[in-house]
Amino acid sequence: MATLLHLDASAAVEGSRSRALTAALARAFREAAPGNTVVHRDLHAEPLPHLPHPGLHWAAPVRTGAAPDAASAALQDRLTAELLGADALVVGFPLYNYSLPSSLKAWIDHVHVPGLTAPSAVSGTPLAGRAAVVVATRGGDYGPGAPNEGRDLATPVLELVLGEEMGMAVTSVAVNLTLAGSDRPEQARRSEREYAEALAALRALGGRLGRCREKH
Ligand SMILES: Cc1cc2nc3c(=O)[nH]c(=O)nc-3n(C[C@H](O)[C@H](O)[C@H](O)COP(=O)(O)O)c2cc1C
Repeated sequence: MATLLHLDASAAVEGSRSRALTAALARAFREAAPGNTVVHRDLHAEPLPHLPHPGLHWAAPVRTGAAPDAASAALQDRLTAELLGADALVVGFPLYNYSLPSSLKAWIDHVHVPGLTAPSAVSGTPLAGRAAVVVATRGGDYGPGAPNEGRDLATPVLELVLGEEMGMAVTSVAVNLTLAGSDRPEQARRSEREYAEALAALRALGGRLGRCREKH
C-alpha cells in the first residue's frame, strides 16, 4: 500500500501533454497494488497564493524572524504534510518562458522548508531517497546540440530543490518540440517519438513505484 502525490501545473486543461504523461504514471501506480492511493493536486485549477510571508521559508524551531499568520502557516502545514506523507511524487509542467509555471513555483516556495522538508542544523532529511519524477514538456528543442540546449531553467530548479536540498531521488523526463506542426514534419515526428517513449517509460516507472511497498 503506497501513496503517490501527483502534481500538474499546465494551464491547458485539455490536450495537455504533461498532464497526460503524469496521468499515465499515476494510473500505473494506482493499479500496481491493492490499496495504492494517488493524491492529485492541480496547481493551475486551484492555484496557491504567492508565498505571503518570508517566515514560511523556515520551520518554527529554526526561524529567526517574525512568525507568519496562522492561516498561511496552516496552508503550508497541509502542503508539507501531503509531501511528507507520500511515498513518491510526480510533477508535470510545461516550460513557460524558459522557466517554471508560476503555479508550480508557488508550491515549491511553500514546501521547501529547512528544518522540516529540508535539512537544517537541528533536523535531518526526512525525504531522503524518496522518488520524485519531474516531467517537462517543451515547445522548442532543448536536446543536445540544439540552440536551446541548457536553456530549460525549470528542470534544474526542481532537481536542485527536490534532489540536492530535500534529498529525493529525482528522475527527469522531458518531451521536446511539442509545438512542431505539419509545417515541420520531421520535428513533429521526433516530438511524437519522444512523447511515446516518455509515456512508456512513465507507465513502467509508475508500476515499479507502485509495487515498492516499503514505506519510507
Ligand atoms: C505562456 C507560455 C510560455 C511558453 N514558453 C515556452 C518556452 O519558453 N520554451 C518552450 O520551449 N516552450 C514554451 N511554451 C510552449 C509549452 O512549453 C509547450 O507547448 C508545452 O508542451 C505545453 O505543455 P502542456 O501540453 O502540458 O500544456 C510556452 C507556452 C506558453 C503557454
